[in-house]
Amino acid sequence: MLEGLLPLLLIVLLCLALLALLLFLRHHSLLPFVIWNEWVLQPINNWLMGDSKEQRILRYVLQHAVAGDPQSVLETIDTYCSQKEWAMNVGDKKGLIMDTVVQEQRPSTLLELGAYCGYSAVRMARLLPPSARLLTIELNPDYAAITQQMLEFAGLQDRVTVIVGASQDIIPQLKKKYDVDTLDMVFLDHWKDRYLPDTLLLEKCGLLRKGTVLLADNVIRPGAPEFLAYMRGSSRFECTHFSSYLEYSELVDGLEKAVYMGPGSPARP
Ligand SMILES: C[S@@+](CC[C@H](N)C(=O)[O-])C[C@H]1O[C@@H](n2cnc3c(N)ncnc32)[C@H](O)[C@@H]1O
Repeated sequence: MLEGLLPLLLIVLLCLALLALLLFLRHHSLLPFVIWNEWVLQPINNWLMGDSKEQRILRYVLQHAVAGDPQSVLETIDTYCSQKEWAMNVGDKKGLIMDTVVQEQRPSTLLELGAYCGYSAVRMARLLPPSARLLTIELNPDYAAITQQMLEFAGLQDRVTVIVGASQDIIPQLKKKYDVDTLDMVFLDHWKDRYLPDTLLLEKCGLLRKGTVLLADNVIRPGAPEFLAYMRGSSRFECTHFSSYLEYSELVDGLEKAVYMGPGSPARP
């Protein structure tokens, strides 16, 4: 009788050991952290609740934040994502660095690549004067719809245009279709392998001017090594690194600020 139960007991013990290992490692490295949050917790929650994490974030905001108060929207998203379910918003710690860059730069025309649930769009748009505008490009139509609702709840919809599509398709349309001359600031926060090609595309399309500030998230985790190497080695960009932490975690991450110096900048010594 006991012998028959032995294989089952072994499987349960193995699963428990694996779970303990994941719980331990999720604080120390990105892969277990992602596996734990995105492949274990999230599918379980989706199955139990019958919706998506992004819908749960929006619902929590609608129920707990103050309508028309962007700061309350940000704090409510941060509370949900640090206490209930991790999500890939830029987050509160790197958000403070973003705030400083936006306040210094005072952009009139700002582009965001990757909106997700609209956290960073709310964060940046709340610091813009009513005459300024933020265009945010989001590949996933479900996420774009959530961003739109988040902005409307925060009362910022008049300052922000949410564009559904892939950055590489939309960027060449910005001048004619969206009436953009040049950009004062770009926040890069979409898939990391698109950072470099999209930066070069923005330059090729004449959307960068001398002084345009590019701010790139997650350059350490998950990392954007090609982008970093190119930008730091190019005489056309002046780079500054801001070290911080991956959203809602203790893992080191950072933002890279790159100021465009113009196409004819002298070569580096
Ligand atoms: C890290 S999330 C953005 C987080 C958001 N900026 C924030 O801090 O609240 C990345 C988003 O980029 C979107 N994305 C990925 N590749 C894209 C592309 N080529 N064009 C537009 N959006 C893209 C994904 O669908 C995802 O929603």
